[in-house]
Amino acid sequence: MTTIQLPESLKWGAATASYQIEGAAQEDGRTPSIWDTFSHTPGKVKNADNGDHACNSYHLYKEDVSHLKELGVDMYRFSISWSRVIPAGTGEVNEKGIAYYRNLIQELIDNGIEPMITLYHWDLPQVLQDAGGWESRETIDAFQEYANTMFKEFGGQVKKWITINEPWCASFLSNYLGVHAPGKQSLQAGIDVAHHLLVAHGKAVQSFRELVPDGEIGYAPNVSWLEPYSPTEKDQAACRLSMMFQKEWFMDPVFKGSYPEELVQLFAKHHAEVPIEEGDLEIISQPIDFMGINYYTGSLGRYKEGAGLFEVEEVPLDERRTDIGWPIYSEGFYKVLCNLHETYGDVPIYITENGACYNHEVEDGRVNDQERIEYLKQHLTALERAMKAGVPITGYIVWSLLDNFEWAEGYEKRFGIIHIDFDTFERTRKDSFYWYRDTIREQQFSL
Ligand code: BGC
Repeated sequence: MTTIQLPESLKWGAATASYQIEGAAQEDGRTPSIWDTFSHTPGKVKNADNGDHACNSYHLYKEDVSHLKELGVDMYRFSISWSRVIPAGTGEVNEKGIAYYRNLIQELIDNGIEPMITLYHWDLPQVLQDAGGWESRETIDAFQEYANTMFKEFGGQVKKWITINEPWCASFLSNYLGVHAPGKQSLQAGIDVAHHLLVAHGKAVQSFRELVPDGEIGYAPNVSWLEPYSPTEKDQAACRLSMMFQKEWFMDPVFKGSYPEELVQLFAKHHAEVPIEEGDLEIISQPIDFMGINYYTGSLGRYKEGAGLFEVEEVPLDERRTDIGWPIYSEGFYKVLCNLHETYGDVPIYITENGACYNHEVEDGRVNDQERIEYLKQHLTALERAMKAGVPITGYIVWSLLDNFEWAEGYEKRFGIIHIDFDTFERTRKDSFYWYRDTIREQQFSL
């Protein structure tokens, strides 16, 4: 039996996001976000599911924190629902919304768990969408105002912050591919939203330095790994460009102060361009304290004429996929971590999300999710190798603490280490929960 020993310095966490778990969508002054609108629009989400009740964590947060304590995590990553704390998007602050997060933060601290706040995990207030959403520069100002308010409210107690979760999903998946809210299908809209999200990120970092001088701030882009199917120039180029769309497009501006030229040229061929205004790139490239990385999947990429923007098709490595259909590729996790380190240098990295979808149900009070444990083992092995190779990884945060509202997939797809009965909100710890608890306790596991 092989034992994988994780370095003492590695911190552990679990993550969730507001719209996916809170429920209480119409309580205590919260107004709709773009995800309320989208999920209530027929045909957008599987089984017409929506986040009205989700895991009911708004009411059950103490139970959730007790599970975090049992797990022994150092950190809990959660997000704030903007429309719960500032229902009109800008202006008046909703004290009841603030009270919910204040209580949650206090409960975490009382239980020895460090809060890590994500400011934007996709739930833009609908009123702001109606005024143009992230396609409009006014939303940047609204975000900065919201961020400042949160820094002032919670910055005394909360020292770890993430501005934007997965800007690729919030821009291109949502505005070019139309899969997520608000469901647009325009390349130009995707580019505009991506740029404005990055400027908003930079502006929030600027105010953070003044308002929470002793805190750490970063953002959490999602990456995957496409390994060229063959060494031919065409396969190599297709993979490079396709990864650039997710990775360099969102990282070069932050770490190098420029967009990747190859992609700028490609977009220009499609009559789309980045709406850069004077000073934007300086704002975006404010130094940050860490890079959050969300990693789930990867595969082989092969050139195919006419296949999408980058003329690439994905070729699965083998039959292994999680229940959401994503290929399992832990080697890609290792490769992408090394690649990020090589490209962007010694920026500390938190793995802000990694986990697997398996839809096991409760049987005799137990959830036997051995496949999830295997997935986590493989990815933590890749992480340990990356750390040995010199990648400065400071923390690992599993997605997700709870089964939850899996966006366009609704409740059918389960990522939690705790099972949720979405009728009764009963929580059942899965086998992976106990495995993760033991791994954290021992700082090692067996393969
Ligand atoms: C998101 C989560 C989501 C998970 C699984 C990430 O894209 O940040 O909100 O549930 O991956 O799809």
